[in-house]
Parts: sequence; structure tokens; C-alpha cells
Amino acid sequence: MGRGLAMSDVEAGGWSSWPAPAKLNLFLHVVGRRPDGYHDLQTVFRILDWGDTIHLRVGPAGPIRRIGPSAPGVEEAQDLVVRAAELLRSSANCPLSADIRVEKRIPTGGGFGGGSSDAATVLVALNALWGLHLPVEELAALGCKLGADVPVFIRGHNAWAEGVGERLTPLALAPAWYLLVDPGVHVPTPELFRAPDLTRDAAPAKIADFASGTLLDNAFEPVLRRREPAVEAVFKALARVGSPRLTGSGGGCFVEFDSLHAAERARSELPAELRAWVVGGAARSPLLDALAAMKV
Ligand code: C5P
Repeated sequence: MGRGLAMSDVEAGGWSSWPAPAKLNLFLHVVGRRPDGYHDLQTVFRILDWGDTIHLRVGPAGPIRRIGPSAPGVEEAQDLVVRAAELLRSSANCPLSADIRVEKRIPTGGGFGGGSSDAATVLVALNALWGLHLPVEELAALGCKLGADVPVFIRGHNAWAEGVGERLTPLALAPAWYLLVDPGVHVPTPELFRAPDLTRDAAPAKIADFASGTLLDNAFEPVLRRREPAVEAVFKALARVGSPRLTGSGGGCFVEFDSLHAAERARSELPAELRAWVVGGAARSPLLDALAAMKV
């Protein structure tokens, strides 16, 4: 059992449970293309009080195993949670084993950050459970190797982000509630970054522009709305209850409200066939609270 782990927090059989929250991009601009093929972005990540749960059981030297199904079409060795555990183990020279079970709530491929958050939670939790004590900077750097959206979940605070999404400045965001809709459309992110009609050269913005409420657009929105009728239909339905935005490279859409009541009422006005959720914005990631609670 890893140091820093309170026995009361471990379920029968040695399993412990860790939150992997979803995120929204409150705006997203592409500001340039890099020599390595990636793109420089400017975005604001808002962490949500809603997400997946990762169940972990650690043991002596042995394999990393995913218990239960991986995402459809994903080989176990390619699974991001397995890759996260393997990467942490090899960089820390650690022989210990882990079983990983993912309780999925976040729709995959919608821009809600589910896969990245699952991977971040595995890095943070196994660092504690295996007693590795790698500093958060090192975990964030490992996370960035797995995906550009992983570091924000490791740091666990709402943030203004630049670079590929790894240069993070903490932001204090007002409480807010979100009506989320998943149109069920998944266009692979690299394909969208290659789209000829994507605006890749937005003028660099400043945090002050976000604070003044002028940054609300997402560079992928016009691209996706033109090519995916299901996304266009969701935008039209959401426009009747508020101001819809796209998260990440989509196709997830959301509307922000300043009360739970207003968000619930808006949901009740949507066509019943839309996959919709009402969730709260978090002041900080519930993963940080889980980590603090595990410290003895
Ligand atoms: O890092 P992630 O796995 O989310 O990226 C998937 C792909 O999206 C990358 O391989 C790259 O083609 C594209 N991408 C990009 N610029 C970014 C993030 C992703 O071009 N900032």
C-alpha cells in the first residue's frame, strides 16, 4: 500500500476511487502552426463538478491491467489510462502493478476532456498510491506526452492556456452552471486541425479580453457547423434557450447560466431526444480534494 493513503479511503479488495472531472473550453482560438505539426492555441479551461470515476488497485511487481472494456476499438495497450500508468511506471523506475477500472460518464470524443482527464487521474492517483512523490511539474510534463489537454487536469485549476494547452495560468472563475449537449458526432481532432476553412491565425488575445467577456468563440465552431448537420441542429435548438458554444474540437455544445434553476429550466425546454446534462462549474478539480483527503 502506498504511503499517504488512509485505510478508511480504500474499499474492500484494496480498490480506491478517484474523480476524473470533465472540462469545457469557454473559448478557443488557434493562433499559429508549429514546426512539430501541432498548433498553438489560446483557450480557457473550466473544470466541471461532474465526470468519470477511476477505480485503482495497486499491488506488488506485476502488469498494468485495465479491468472492464476499453473504449470501443481501442486495444488495451493503446488505452490512454494504461499508457498513463505505463509511462509513470517507466519514468519512475517502479516495478509495482495496478488494476484500473473506469466508470464512464463523460461522452467520448465530444470535447469534454474525458480521455485526458482519465489519464491525468491515473497519473496523479498512482503517484500517490505507489508512493512515488513525483512533483506536479513532472506529472504535468508526463501528461503532456499523452495529450495536450492532460496537464490542466493534473494541475486541477481553471486556467487560461497557451502553447498546445500546457502553458497554464490559474484563473478564478465565478460560479456557473452549464447545460451540455452531446450531438454524438465525432470528427477526429487532427482532421479538424487540417480543415482548410479553420482560422489558424487569430490575433493573440489577453486574459483581460476574457475577463471583460469579449472572448466567447471557438475556432472549430463554424467548421463543424458547416460539415455536421447534427451539430448545426443542436446549435439551433440551444439558441432558443441561450448562447451556445462549442467545447474543444467538438462536437459537444454548451450554454452557461448563472443559476442551477435557469439551467434546469432551459433543459426542460429542449427537445426530449437531445442528450443533455446540467452540471456545475468547479472552483478547482475534485481530484485535488481526493488527493488531500488521502494524505495522512
Ligand atoms: O494532444 P491530442 O492527442 O489531443 O492531439 C491530437 C491531434 O490533434 C494531434 O496529433 C494534432 O494533430 C492535433 N493537435 C494540434 N494542435 C494542438 C492539439 C492537437 O494540431 N494544440
